[in-house]
Amino acid sequence: MSAAEWVPESPTLAELRSAVQDCRGCELYRDATQGVMGEGPTPAPLMLLGEQPGDREDREGEPFVGPAGGILHEALADAGIDPEATYTTNVVKHFRHRLSGKRRIHQSPTSKQVGACAPWLAAELDLVRPTGVVLLGGTAGKALYGSSFRVGEARGHLLEWPDAIATASLDPWVLATTHPSAVLRAEDQRQETYDGLVADLKVAAKALTR
Ligand code: URA
Ligand code: SF4
Repeated sequence: MSAAEWVPESPTLAELRSAVQDCRGCELYRDATQGVMGEGPTPAPLMLLGEQPGDREDREGEPFVGPAGGILHEALADAGIDPEATYTTNVVKHFRHRLSGKRRIHQSPTSKQVGACAPWLAAELDLVRPTGVVLLGGTAGKALYGSSFRVGEARGHLLEWPDAIATASLDPWVLATTHPSAVLRAEDQRQETYDGLVADLKVAAKALTR
């Protein structure tokens, strides 16, 4: 399984957004409304990397426009990062879910689906050429560092870009943090979880000013 044959050569972002609609690199296109390419300026100093589009993103065709996106944009602003200056995307471009009656319930993508979708991310990295990449949650972390990656151990300090993932003359630092949806799920620890996200993003903000 690989998206490689659907990724155009030296694409613009508009070309990527259009080409991802034809991707058959894994089975996830079947049950999704559309592919959701990243969004933001190219180049951009910071890339924010989530898991996959959610229900709202799947309908609207843009990343982080739902509830988790609301938390993310608030946390970025609180950390002193202009959300508009960042490029936001996901390791998987189609929404994986199951049905519960009429409700679409999020399901994390498998490592095979993440691997299949990686050529799209590689094309985005070539366009965005970020100084730093923020990994939002475990799926993004595993996509870069493998299945043993744990956000709890890795978060809050700068990491080296993984050797396993080649990026042409690009060597961004990486910062891992919790996924903003964890704040929504945290109930009685909501403030604590949010503060942790902002504290990690401040590490990225500081690294960007170096
Ligand atoms: N969660 C993600 O990981 N990405 C989105 O775009 C929305 C929610
Ligand atoms: Fe292609 Fe990725 Fe969608 Fe799978 S999830 S069909 S690899 S764009």
